Amino acid sequence: MKLSNIFGILLHMIEHVQIALIPTLKDIYKNPYLIFHPSHPFFTNVWAVIGPGIDERETEMKRALVYPHARGVVLDLGAGLGHIIKYLDRSKVTKYIALEPNICMHSEIRSKASSYGFTESNGNFLLISSSASDISSILFRLSTSVENEEKSRSHSALGIMIEDIRVDTIITIRSACSFPSPEKTLTRLAKDVLKPGGEFLFVEHVLSERKDVAWWQRFWSPLWEVFAGCRLDRPTHLWIGEMKDFDGEGRTIDMWSEGEAKRPAEDPEENLLGHRIGRFVKHL
Ligand SMILES: C[S@@+](CC[C@H](N)C(=O)[O-])C[C@H]1O[C@@H](n2cnc3c(N)ncnc32)[C@H](O)[C@@H]1O
Repeated sequence: MKLSNIFGILLHMIEHVQIALIPTLKDIYKNPYLIFHPSHPFFTNVWAVIGPGIDERETEMKRALVYPHARGVVLDLGAGLGHIIKYLDRSKVTKYIALEPNICMHSEIRSKASSYGFTESNGNFLLISSSASDISSILFRLSTSVENEEKSRSHSALGIMIEDIRVDTIITIRSACSFPSPEKTLTRLAKDVLKPGGEFLFVEHVLSERKDVAWWQRFWSPLWEVFAGCRLDRPTHLWIGEMKDFDGEGRTIDMWSEGEAKRPAEDPEENLLGHRIGRFVKHL
């Protein structure tokens, strides 16, 4: 492997500290409560600087994944600064739900969503500040939101079924690398939060199939977690692709009726941040 691939990760970590250390100290000075969650302002400052460039480079790939396939109620896991919103087809997406546990990112998500017509007052935007692993909180917020919509239409909220609460599309862009208990979290989201026939769309950096690359990914992951907030050593594409569910009679079946995860052509195999782009459709 090239030394630039192995030690490029170290340079990224140094860059994150250079970008975010001083602004984070300033944020904590302005809002001392953040001392209890220093990673929130730190990663917000990092992402505010490097996120737009990454998003710009991936415009074509994200548009091809999201624009034709995201529909109905869309749940964006780890919404960050709301980069995905501009790729949503407004004629097909009825509601945008941003799940983002980092409160420092909330005002930017709200303002981006609003500039694309998704607002809480219109009832087509919801911001959930839980972790993706907190499935009961997510289901609770989804059900409360549906109940409020029904009440605002003067309908009774009593007849609401689980199918009314579930979402049509789940998107995760570089967020599953941060989830606690990622395999269990992703499986529960697909099983309990996504509707039958719904789409699971993702772009994630993943554990390489190459042994040498995987070795370095495992080596750097503990440090990368501190300075970048996520792991390099997760086979997220395999966990999603190989998920199982139960049919009505309790038999194990594949979670997906169709789908695949691909390596972007522009990602060199030696890249420690090599990605997979995936689109999977849940069985009916
Ligand atoms: C690299 S950023 C990606 C943001 C956004 N998806 C994008 O592509 O611009 C990772 C995001 O995952 C969020 N995140 C971290 N832990 C999370 C968790 N347990 N549940 C949901 N999101 C999480 C972070 O706060 C951050 O916004």
